[in-house]
Amino acid sequence: MASVTSLTASVHQRLADALSAALPEAGTADPLLRRSDRADFQANGILALAKKAKANPRELATQVVSQVATGDVIKDIEVSGPGFLNITITDKAITENLAARAADAEGRLGVPLADEPGTTVIDYAQPNVAKEMHVGHLRSAVIGDAVVQILEFTGENVIRRHHIGDWGTQFGMLIQYLIEHPHELDHKAAAEDTEASGEEAMSNLNRLYKASRALFDSDEEFKDRARRRVVDLQAGDPETLALWQRFVDESKIYFYSVFHKLDMEIRDPDVVGESGYNDMLDETCRLLEESGVAVRSEGALCVFFDDIKGPDGKPVPLIVRKSDGGYGYAATDLSAIRDRVFNLKANSLVYVVDARQSLHFKMVFETARRAGWLGDGVKAFQLAFGTVLGKDGKPFKTREGETVRLVDLLDEAIDRASAVVREKAQDLSEEEIAERGAQVGIGAVKYADLSTSANRDYKFDLDQMVSLNGDTSVYLQYAYARIRSIIRKAGDARPTAHPELELTEAERALGLHVDQFAETVAETAAEYAPHKLAAYLYQLASLYTSFYDKCPVLKADTSEQVENRLFLCDITARTLHQGMALLGIRTPERL
Ligand code: ARG
Repeated sequence: MASVTSLTASVHQRLADALSAALPEAGTADPLLRRSDRADFQANGILALAKKAKANPRELATQVVSQVATGDVIKDIEVSGPGFLNITITDKAITENLAARAADAEGRLGVPLADEPGTTVIDYAQPNVAKEMHVGHLRSAVIGDAVVQILEFTGENVIRRHHIGDWGTQFGMLIQYLIEHPHELDHKAAAEDTEASGEEAMSNLNRLYKASRALFDSDEEFKDRARRRVVDLQAGDPETLALWQRFVDESKIYFYSVFHKLDMEIRDPDVVGESGYNDMLDETCRLLEESGVAVRSEGALCVFFDDIKGPDGKPVPLIVRKSDGGYGYAATDLSAIRDRVFNLKANSLVYVVDARQSLHFKMVFETARRAGWLGDGVKAFQLAFGTVLGKDGKPFKTREGETVRLVDLLDEAIDRASAVVREKAQDLSEEEIAERGAQVGIGAVKYADLSTSANRDYKFDLDQMVSLNGDTSVYLQYAYARIRSIIRKAGDARPTAHPELELTEAERALGLHVDQFAETVAETAAEYAPHKLAAYLYQLASLYTSFYDKCPVLKADTSEQVENRLFLCDITARTLHQGMALLGIRTPERL
């Protein structure tokens, strides 16, 4: 595997060297290189540096220019305006750079692996046992999965954690009801049918949840028995635990069926729910109390913060242990931090969780910091996401005002997408239409989620999501399929780089953008910001479209030009394919 130095990086290096030669006191100064419309790149850093050194910016710029060798990579460099530099790259360097990327292992495209990778724990896709998954769980899963893929691609050691809600007093009621109605979780569907078993599991759980809740609210004796069952569960009574496990297993059948529909791999050992930290809760509290980070207040164990106050002006504490001795969400999260830092040896903890839980995480992280569990070597970050809104701009609900079931939403997306695929399909069988429909529909949902920055709310608008024009996954998928079809039609002509050929403007723009893939991946990974990769890919498809409109590929003038254009097509397709894969989206060969 060979990483390729991008043109941006090599121009940057040349300019930085020239700068320190021209202005030794500036040390390693940043020339602030940007892609530009006027030339290929523009460097904007001279002005500020000249100001600092009390030098004339145009003179400094001229000096820098005289230090830069032109020829192999840089074709032209000139001073513009008060002291900007405009830089043009040679056609040869562009093609050679792309050829080096193409020669790398399939899919890597010259993108380097981290020299010293760290360990990141990503907490995502965390539904709750015995509960339906809704659109909020979609965001955590989709964003989390993309971040996992992207970080792994950079060489980071990624540990996935699905912190499912599998503990709490509601299990007393559920288990007690199951004891009294033992067949409520039985299955009729064949176990191999993932979708049918998932649906059946959830409908059993729903029915059982409603019935036990109704009984709990109306029958005092059942309520008592349910409460005693909670005590048994907490005490680890084997029979009670076995029944609890049935709820967890049943829910997992359902979760996995939804993740399967989402075309997402969730592995069983990575599912470590709230209950996974039960053994640590006592010690977590003891450590916090001994270190003085937590104090007793009205019988509860609490952590206080100067800047966190309720509407009445009174401080709002993080409650680690309730006055009745019970542990809540915070104790579990604090224990999970200890596990992730000290057992899993993570340097970074990322939580892909709804922005409405931000206060919780702020308090949990600050507590862990005070306790010395987070600090210089270990950072924690909530990748907070906004709310999914309906077309009316209000939180997404059904017409009856209920939360929308995630499966229903996905099914609708797949239906819509199948209609789009069918309309355009020329030589696809029914089976292929169904397969592509799922890939396009799920891709549309994921892309809509990933293409806006996570912290923003977005409107769930299926018409827009499956539109062929605009910033949608379908547009990208069609661009990919179109390229693949050209390459299939090329017959004997193979994609081959010819660095000696002159390039048109559209070819240069496309080539320079392909070259930025590695930088984009690095930035996306460093900021946990999949929308940056999505924006890059959309731009890539758009640049490809202009190239395709302006430059005949198979009908180009010479056979070298045909080959070189095919080569540009091929490297674009591979970049699109890899980039989409990092977002968890398929790129079918034909559409
Ligand atoms: N299960 C929770 C929910 O549905 C999300 C869990 C988030 N992760 C965590 N470590 N607290 O809201």
